Amino acid sequence: MSMKKIAILSGDGIGPEIVAEAIKLLDCLKHNFGFDVELESAAIGGAGYDQDGDPLPESTLTICQQADAVLLGAVGGPAYEGLERELRPERGLLRIRAELELFSNLRPAMLYPQLASASSLKDEIVSGLDIMIVRELTGGIYFGQPRGIRELDNGEKQGFNTLVYAEYEIERIGRSAFDIAMLRNKKLCSVDKANVLEVSELWREVMNRLSTDYPEVELSHMYVDNASMQLVRAPKQFDVMVTTNMFGDILSDTAAMLTGSIGMLPSASLDSNGKGMYEPIHGSAPDIAGKSIANPLATLLSVAMMLRYSLGEAELANLIDVAVGNVLNQGFRTADIADGANSVSTAEMGDAVVAAMRVQSN
Ligand code: IPM
Ligand code: MG
Repeated sequence: MSMKKIAILSGDGIGPEIVAEAIKLLDCLKHNFGFDVELESAAIGGAGYDQDGDPLPESTLTICQQADAVLLGAVGGPAYEGLERELRPERGLLRIRAELELFSNLRPAMLYPQLASASSLKDEIVSGLDIMIVRELTGGIYFGQPRGIRELDNGEKQGFNTLVYAEYEIERIGRSAFDIAMLRNKKLCSVDKANVLEVSELWREVMNRLSTDYPEVELSHMYVDNASMQLVRAPKQFDVMVTTNMFGDILSDTAAMLTGSIGMLPSASLDSNGKGMYEPIHGSAPDIAGKSIANPLATLLSVAMMLRYSLGEAELANLIDVAVGNVLNQGFRTADIADGANSVSTAEMGDAVVAAMRVQSN
């Protein structure tokens, strides 16, 4: 087994606290499972700005380019909100997605049976929920040109962005989604706004064309407004959903909430070679930063996704998934999933998962 290099970007807010638990887990993989790994830390987001005046320092980008995979905590915080747009933490995130060409963003939303009561929806609507949202991540309105705020002749200001997708961009995210559907229940729902937008018309056309290469996958199309409604009405009708950058941003937050805790959900952002950046879906949560109460499970599950999708270690990934299930069975809960009952700290939760991993190594 060759040595793998992982870039560790803790970022801001609760980022350093949750990533510290992922480092414990990676150390355990190294010492108890013989996983040959080397970690290199670098600054991003507000931490990058503090270090170098840049939310994505050149040195950070280089470390990420040289790594086999990237683990990210979270970026952003109130201290950076007054900065000009290009210097804000979120720009560092958007730039690293673009620089590494991480066009395929996988956001699973699955419900742990142990946490069914944490969902705001009725048990029967969410029990057994397991959706994968495939979000296009390097195109669409997030990156389209022209963009800006200009002054009109009458002196009034006008803001503008451009929603644009080239065929190759739709095709590669489509293939990514069809491939994932093949590994799951072979149902793919493409979400667009083809009743209004030309770009969606093209999106739909390309998805239909691709589907002839995947005869086993049942492809359907849904308008985004309906999709947002169906997600809260009957979410179990979905297996894999594929959509644009902005629709995916919105729908993935809804899907995450169905599971009761956004603190449980990992994500992967992949390039065309399967190299990827892995991060919890939740943000930097500045309101609870430094309190040692953040839920590290989404970050630990992101490590599992990394092992599965980028590092060819599906077995280790499965062990982590099992370990997380086991600590939930044992009753460990951080405050966000405790439902008012006793809760453990970020580090106690991380330690419990490491202990559950050690049990499996014997
Ligand atoms: C996400 C976040 C980001 C996005 C922000 C922080 C730029 O909301 O990863 O979903 O909009 O993509
Ligand atoms: Mg978002």
